Amino acid sequence: MTNTIQKSVLQCLSGHRPQRIPVWLMRQAGRYLPEYHTIRNTADSFLGVCYNPALATEITLQPIRRFDFDASIFFADILVVPDALGQRVDFYPNTGPVLQVPEDKTAFLHTLESHLPKVHNTLNPLYETLDRLKVALPPDKTLIGFSGCPWTLATYMILGRGGQDLQNCIHFARRYPDFWRVFYDILIETISEYILRQIAAGAEVIQLFDSWAGVLSGDDIDIFCTDPIAKIIAGVKSVSPHTPIIVFAKNIQMNIDIFRQKTGCDALSISHINAVGHSTKTYPIQGCLSPDILRSAEDLEHHIYTICERLKNRPHIFNLNHGIDKHTPIGHVHRLIKAVQGYG
Ligand code: CP3
Repeated sequence: MTNTIQKSVLQCLSGHRPQRIPVWLMRQAGRYLPEYHTIRNTADSFLGVCYNPALATEITLQPIRRFDFDASIFFADILVVPDALGQRVDFYPNTGPVLQVPEDKTAFLHTLESHLPKVHNTLNPLYETLDRLKVALPPDKTLIGFSGCPWTLATYMILGRGGQDLQNCIHFARRYPDFWRVFYDILIETISEYILRQIAAGAEVIQLFDSWAGVLSGDDIDIFCTDPIAKIIAGVKSVSPHTPIIVFAKNIQMNIDIFRQKTGCDALSISHINAVGHSTKTYPIQGCLSPDILRSAEDLEHHIYTICERLKNRPHIFNLNHGIDKHTPIGHVHRLIKAVQGYG
């Protein structure tokens, strides 16, 4: 039997530095792999793959077979939550996700509320994927569950798609405070239970994605990002105190030590190595190579060693600062892993 503490990612998250720096990549299962396309092409829709435990398990395992990653993030998407809450979500090949925007706010809240009792029934195939992965994954790999955070989910749910002016979402929140309070409470409740069910199904670590946190400034950071994340983490920790939680609040405009203390998370996934410049603490850090550098591979090893060097005095899980680019050559991923594992 493998003791869980032999898993290097869990060792890191409990405050140690294992012999080798553990490594995994955001979106490591996906379109840069030809075998992903093979499966994706057999399915009608992207969400159809997410809700199919056999396909989602297989896709999750694809990068683990090819590369010596130390963790496996189960295959799904942050937008399954709005989908399970009854909002229409479609994924189009070149536009990305498109959600049906709420025209009538009362009707929209009614839809979400009426789906609340069955949301985890809808999400059940995802819990089954985790169940299967728990058995299928090699014993030294850490199984990661995840969710989007209220702010990033809200931007998609209110504005309907990515690439919009996110200030419009803030304006919307200010203009309709009563709507917003109920809306955010629904998201906080759903995400908290979603995470707890992932943990019950076998997720050993949770990563929370707040991909659009970087547009917030001043008090808005706490209102839209930090406070709701703190509520979710407090709720999860009250039931499952020992499951490590990593927060990826991309480009957060706040000192990372304060952000970590306010949210109560165990580790931070950072967007730029300079973010650790003002940190006086030694909690674990994940990150933070740019996917563009991995794609071009220009001075790849130099960039990797610089990051490892800056983080050598604390637990460090190597990762990117965003999802891997779909045009990334597979050979570059092999080089990345070799460099990280060869460091020090
Ligand atoms: O391997 C993994 O990391 C697990 C699976 C995963 C996906 N999306 C698969 C996916 C995870 C963790 C996500 C998170 C996600 N999804 C985020 C947060 C992380 C980030 O990238 O900032 C966000 C904002 C989304 C929303 C989303 N899903 C967008 C904007 C898109 C389109 C983007 C694009 O590159 O086209 C998706 C689709 C998506 N999610 C794909 C995959 C593999 C591509 C779908 C396809 O096959 O066409």
